[in-house]
Amino acid sequence: MIPAFVVLPTGIILLVATLVLKLTGDPEKDRAFIERGASIIRGGGLVAFPTETVYGLGANAFDAAAVRRIFEAKERPEWDPLIVHVCSLEMFRLLVEAFPPLFEVLVHRFMPGPLTLVLPRSDRVPDEVTAKRSTIAVRMPAHPVALALIEASGVPIAAPSANRFGKPSPTTAEHVLRDLGGRIEALLDAGPTPIGVESTILDLSQQPPQILRPGGIPKEALEAVLGQVVLSSEPIPSTDSGLPAPGMSPRHYAPKARLIPIEGGASELTIALLEHLAKGNRIGVLLPTDWQLPIGKEGGLPFLSFDWGPWGDWETLAKRLFNGLRWLDDQGVDLILCPLPPPEALGLAIRDRLLRAARPPEKD
Ligand code: TXA
Ligand code: MG
Repeated sequence: MIPAFVVLPTGIILLVATLVLKLTGDPEKDRAFIERGASIIRGGGLVAFPTETVYGLGANAFDAAAVRRIFEAKERPEWDPLIVHVCSLEMFRLLVEAFPPLFEVLVHRFMPGPLTLVLPRSDRVPDEVTAKRSTIAVRMPAHPVALALIEASGVPIAAPSANRFGKPSPTTAEHVLRDLGGRIEALLDAGPTPIGVESTILDLSQQPPQILRPGGIPKEALEAVLGQVVLSSEPIPSTDSGLPAPGMSPRHYAPKARLIPIEGGASELTIALLEHLAKGNRIGVLLPTDWQLPIGKEGGLPFLSFDWGPWGDWETLAKRLFNGLRWLDDQGVDLILCPLPPPEALGLAIRDRLLRAARPPEKD
């Protein structure tokens, strides 16, 4: 358990704790942990759980009070709507008013998986989930623990990524505890998440369909099925309710250190590194495993590197991205230098996250 103190306005101090349920691989024990998580969800509590992309912070999507607690725990602005997670098509249909013909083919090809669909919402969904929008974002995660939790809960689970708002997303249980320990009732720990970047968000309420956020399902895979797909230049379109547009203003996925994305290869990275070292900065680098820089610790120039994985292996780089940013931050560097992958396959999602993380804080 991770204890934390809460001081009530009356001056009374409460000790709150997050129950960590570490899955063992033993089906009987794990079933008991999932049941425990599900009963917390049904009782209006918050449970963080693994998905194939990143850890999510879940609450019963039909319980407005529980959903409001997600926003408090994450310190997330209430105008930023949540993704609802389902374990079956029946559950999916409870949330959505009307399905376009393309829906069936997407289900067939990509579900369960890291694809979130934005569709017209049904009246059953509380305004807190969708931030009063007329659409809802829904996905069926491809992680056995996530699916088992939703099924055992018997309700759809609203879940943003289980990090403090604006921070790098959590790909391990430790990341979740560091951001939310003491603020949530429980955490199901099933080890690191396999994909490491969030789901692709596809808006089907527009024609042609628009990618609002590139993610685990590549744009090329969607195009192969749907034909034309547009990558939204604005991460999220303006709201239909007069509220600020979600995902637009905040600096997202950001480490404490300033992030400097570098377009190009090893020589461009070397030039930038030398320039910033000359200014006396403590520097961290997300360094592709196979890049040899003509400078290094051996040459007497101090910088810290995180072994990111082989350049071109976007799946590995995606998996290690947020862990690398958090690790370099923990070492206390001032700057993080990081090469930008090209906008193809999973490289597009990595690029998107790095560019957003590099936005200056004054745009918050
Ligand atoms: O992989 C994922 O998608 C993870 C895991 C936990 O499922 N979830 C995740 O949630 O990344 P979150 O809240 O961190 O990001 C969801 C994004 C937000 O930028 C939000 O603005 C957008 O989805 N969103 C939610 N509902 C929307 C809607 N109706 N229209 C447009 N964007 C929406
Ligand atoms: Mg998030």
